[in-house]
Amino acid sequence: MCGIVGYIGRRDAVPVLLEGLRSLEYRGYDSAGLAVIRRNRLQVTKTAGRVSDLRDRVDGRSRAPVGIGHTRWATHGEPNEVNAHPHTDAEGRIAVVHNGIIENAEQLRDALTDRGVKLVSDTDTEALAHMIAAEAERAASLEEAVRRALRHVEGTYGLVVLDVRHPGELVVARNGSPIVVGVGEAEMFVASDVAALVRYTKQVVYLEDAEMATVRATDFRTLPIDESGRRAAGSTVPTTVEAEAGDYELGPYQDFMRKEIHEQPEALRRALRGRLDDRFATARLGGIDLDARQLRSIRQVKFLGCGSAYYAGQMGALLVEELARIPSDAEPASEFRYRNPVVDPDTLYVAVSQSGETLDTLMAVQELKRKGGQVIGAVNVVGSAIGRECGSGVFLHAGPEIAVASTKALTNMAATFAMLALLLGRVRDLSAAAGQRIVAGLRALPGQMEEVLAAEPKIAEVARRFAAAEHMFFIGRVRGWPVAREGAQKLKEVSYVHAEAYQAAELKHGPLALINSSMPSVVVVPADELLGKHVSTIEQIRARGGPVIAVTSAGLPPSLADAVIGVPRGEPELEPLLLNIPLQLLAYHVAATLGRDIDKPRNLAKSVTVELVQGQQVRFGRAAGKRLLAPHDFAGRGAARAPALGELADHLQPASVLVLAACLAEPG
Ligand code: G6P
Repeated sequence: MCGIVGYIGRRDAVPVLLEGLRSLEYRGYDSAGLAVIRRNRLQVTKTAGRVSDLRDRVDGRSRAPVGIGHTRWATHGEPNEVNAHPHTDAEGRIAVVHNGIIENAEQLRDALTDRGVKLVSDTDTEALAHMIAAEAERAASLEEAVRRALRHVEGTYGLVVLDVRHPGELVVARNGSPIVVGVGEAEMFVASDVAALVRYTKQVVYLEDAEMATVRATDFRTLPIDESGRRAAGSTVPTTVEAEAGDYELGPYQDFMRKEIHEQPEALRRALRGRLDDRFATARLGGIDLDARQLRSIRQVKFLGCGSAYYAGQMGALLVEELARIPSDAEPASEFRYRNPVVDPDTLYVAVSQSGETLDTLMAVQELKRKGGQVIGAVNVVGSAIGRECGSGVFLHAGPEIAVASTKALTNMAATFAMLALLLGRVRDLSAAAGQRIVAGLRALPGQMEEVLAAEPKIAEVARRFAAAEHMFFIGRVRGWPVAREGAQKLKEVSYVHAEAYQAAELKHGPLALINSSMPSVVVVPADELLGKHVSTIEQIRARGGPVIAVTSAGLPPSLADAVIGVPRGEPELEPLLLNIPLQLLAYHVAATLGRDIDKPRNLAKSVTVELVQGQQVRFGRAAGKRLLAPHDFAGRGAARAPALGELADHLQPASVLVLAACLAEPG
C-alpha cells in the first residue's frame, strides 16, 4: 500500500527520496511523487507511473537539503498525477504526504470550499495541506499548526509535512499508520517502513500512535498529538533494526518470491533459535507474558488473520488441538470484526500478521480488547501497529518479506504456532517424551526444507506440464487441508489460474462433477494415520479421468499419480510445513511459465492497510469533465445511501472497487 519517505540533512534529498521510494515499491502503488525545498521554493514532481518515471522527471540540477516522497495506492479519487502525493496548499507553502484514510474528508473538503479554497484533487490528503497552511499563518511553529489541524481530523494517518517557511524541519504524525524515524549523523530519515531507510541507518525510533515529532537534521523531539497532557511523549532512544539492506535486494534471484522461498530454512532457524528447551521438552516464548497457571486456564485458542496469515492460523489451530488438546480454530479477521463476535475471557486470541498493518486484523484486535478479550500477536514487522496494539506476543523473525505472496512468513507463523502448541501442551497432558519428539522434529525442519528446495527443478518441470490448465483443485484432509487452501491461494495470487481448495471427503458431495481430463488436482498426502484415505482420494479422481499431482511425505510410487512430488517424512504434526513448500514452488513456476509479474500480482498489495468502503460508500461525481468516484462517509453531509454497492465493494480489493464503480458509473 502507500509508502512514505522523508529526508533532512547533509546530502541531496532527491536521490535519497527516490531510493527510499524504490524500496517501498514492493508494497504496491499506482502513482508516486516527491517535494523538495530549493531556493526557498517548494518543487513538487509527480507521476501516475512508476518510481523510475519519477526519477526521469525530477529536476536534479541543484541540491535540496530536505524533502518528502510518497507512493500512492488510490483510495480517494482515481490513480492519476493530480491525486498523487505530495499535496500542497494553494500558495505552495505546505506539502503533505499521507498514508491512511481521513474518514471525515468530505466534511473537511466542504468546509474548505465554503471558505473559498479551491481543491484541485479528489483526495482526503489535500484537505490536510490547506488546513495546515491556514493554521500555520497563526501558529508559532509548524508543529503547532499540524497539531491544530489534526484536531479536526477523524481517521487514520501517518503523515509528513514540509513547510517552505521552516525548511530546517519536517513534522510527522502517526495515528494507526506507521511512521519510523531513522537517526543518522547530521541527517534524519522518516518513513512508513524501515525498508526505505535501512540502507542509510539501522538506528530507528518507531512513533507511537497519537504521537507526533519535529525532526531536524541533528535531533528530533516527540510529543503527544493531544495537547491535554494526559499522555507522555514516547521514547526517542533508538533501537537497532535487524534487517540488512541486502534483504531488500534481489541478489542472484530474478524475483523476491523465489528468493524468499529459498530463504525459508534460514528464516526458520532464526524463529527457532533460543526458543526450544531440551531440558523440559518445551518452548520458551519470551513475549508471551503468561505463567503456567495462566496458560493452563486457557480454555480455547482462536487464530485471527487474513489471507495466508489465516491459513497459517488454521495450521496453528490443528497443532494446538493435537498437542495441547485445547479446542482451537481460526477465522478470517475480516469476518470476525464484522460479526459481533462473542468474546470469551478464557480464550486466547492470536492475531496473525506478517506486516502487522493489515487493517482488518488490527480492527479485530481493537474489537477484542474493547470486549475484554485476551489477545497476543504473531507478527513479523517489529514496531508495526498490530504488534503494538496487542502489547505481547511473538515475533516471527522471518526477515523482510517483499513479494506480495507470503512464503517465509507463513512458514515461520506455522513454526511459531507449533512452539505455542508445545508450550500449551507441556503445561497440560503432553508428556515429556512427546514434547521431546516435537522439539527434535522442529529442529530437523530447516534441513528437511533444504531437501525439498533441492527438488525445485523437478517441481518446475511439473509446473510447466500443468501450466496451461485453466482451473485446478487443491485437495487435502485434516493436516493437509490448510496446506491445500494455502496452495490454492498461492496459485491464484501469482499465476491467475483459478484454483479451489476442497476437503478430500467433500469431493463426493459436489466437486467430483467437475473432474475431467482438463481439471488437474493437487492432492496433499501426509504420511499420517489417514494415508489409506488419501490414496483412495487420488484413485477416485483418477477413475474419473482427472490428472493428479500428489505432494507427499509418504513415499508414494510414481505410478499412483500423474506426478508425485516427495518431501522428507517429518513428525506428523509438523508435516504441513514441509508439504507447503512444493506448493509454493508449483505456484511460482506456473506463474513464471505464464510470464506473470510474480512479485506484484495485479490488484493485490503486500499489506492492505486501508479499506475503501468501511463506513463509506462509493459516490459518483464529476471532475475534469469525467465521471469519477470518491468514497463518501455514510454519515457525511448529503450522502445518499447505497449500501448494496457498499457491501459488495467491501469484499473486493480497492483496485477492483475502482473498476466496479467505474463500470457502474459508465454503464455499458
Ligand atoms: C494481503 C496480501 C496477502 C497476505 C494478507 C495478510 O492480502 O496480499 O499475501 O497474506 O494481506 O497480510 P499480513 O501482513 O497481515 O500477514
